[in-house]
Amino acid sequence: MLSIESIHTSYGPISAIKGIDMEVREGEIVSLIGNNGAGKSTCLMTISGILKPSQGSIFLGKNNIAGLSPHSIVAQGVCQVPEGRRIFPRLTVIENLEMGAFLGRGDFGTTLHRVFKLFPILEERRKQYGGTLSGGEQQMLAIGRALMANPDVLLLDEPSLGLAPIMVSKIFRTIQEINSEGVTVLLVEQNARAALKLSHRGYVLENGVITLSGSGKDLLDSEEVRQAYLGE
Ligand SMILES: Nc1ncnc2c1ncn2[C@@H]1O[C@H](COP(=O)(O)OP(=O)(O)O)[C@@H](O)[C@H]1O
Ligand SMILES: [Mg+2]
Repeated sequence: MLSIESIHTSYGPISAIKGIDMEVREGEIVSLIGNNGAGKSTCLMTISGILKPSQGSIFLGKNNIAGLSPHSIVAQGVCQVPEGRRIFPRLTVIENLEMGAFLGRGDFGTTLHRVFKLFPILEERRKQYGGTLSGGEQQMLAIGRALMANPDVLLLDEPSLGLAPIMVSKIFRTIQEINSEGVTVLLVEQNARAALKLSHRGYVLENGVITLSGSGKDLLDSEEVRQAYLGE
């Protein structure tokens, strides 16, 4: 579904992604783990078109989407939930969701129904301002907003960051539920254990290069991953 080939991305003279190859197959949850500054967010932003790669290709099916504008990438079915949520605090829940549907595909009512089914709390709070929601509810709203575009591939950047443990497990369960409805997921997480547990496959990113890859289980069992990322 997504095939990332020899991607390089820089911030001016700073090279953040130095030639990475990754594949995300249809129906999978794939996680990308790595320390702070490894290049995880840069990788997601390159896929979603916020950053332009200096080299390489990103195939979505047969189309090379590398370097296209973010809105045309959303229109082709790839949506990102950014790190730190970035919901619109002065818009209501429903207005935030409408913004998500703006560039997307599919029928608004049907999609809204699906998002409210995943996150009943958003329906309850639909007239409330985004800024008045709890951290966990804001993360649900950020995910719900991305789903309003009806993506085939959802890119999630640190969805569990800063959330209470009970909310973290709820978010991870929901990611699994979204995936079981047919959405392919690329998940960036510092919470490597929880991410790998629910992932079909994973990649480890260090200093802008992929150093390890394998099934979620293989990575959880790997000595290197256990020492560097699971604190064992
Ligand atoms: N806007 C920016 N300008 C310059 N360097 C940046 C910028 N954003 C990130 N970087 C650098 O790129 C590297 C990768 O960052 P990032 O992709 O945010 O890592 P991660 O998401 O894995 O924590 C880091 O060395 C970071 O300092
Ligand atoms: Mg990041």
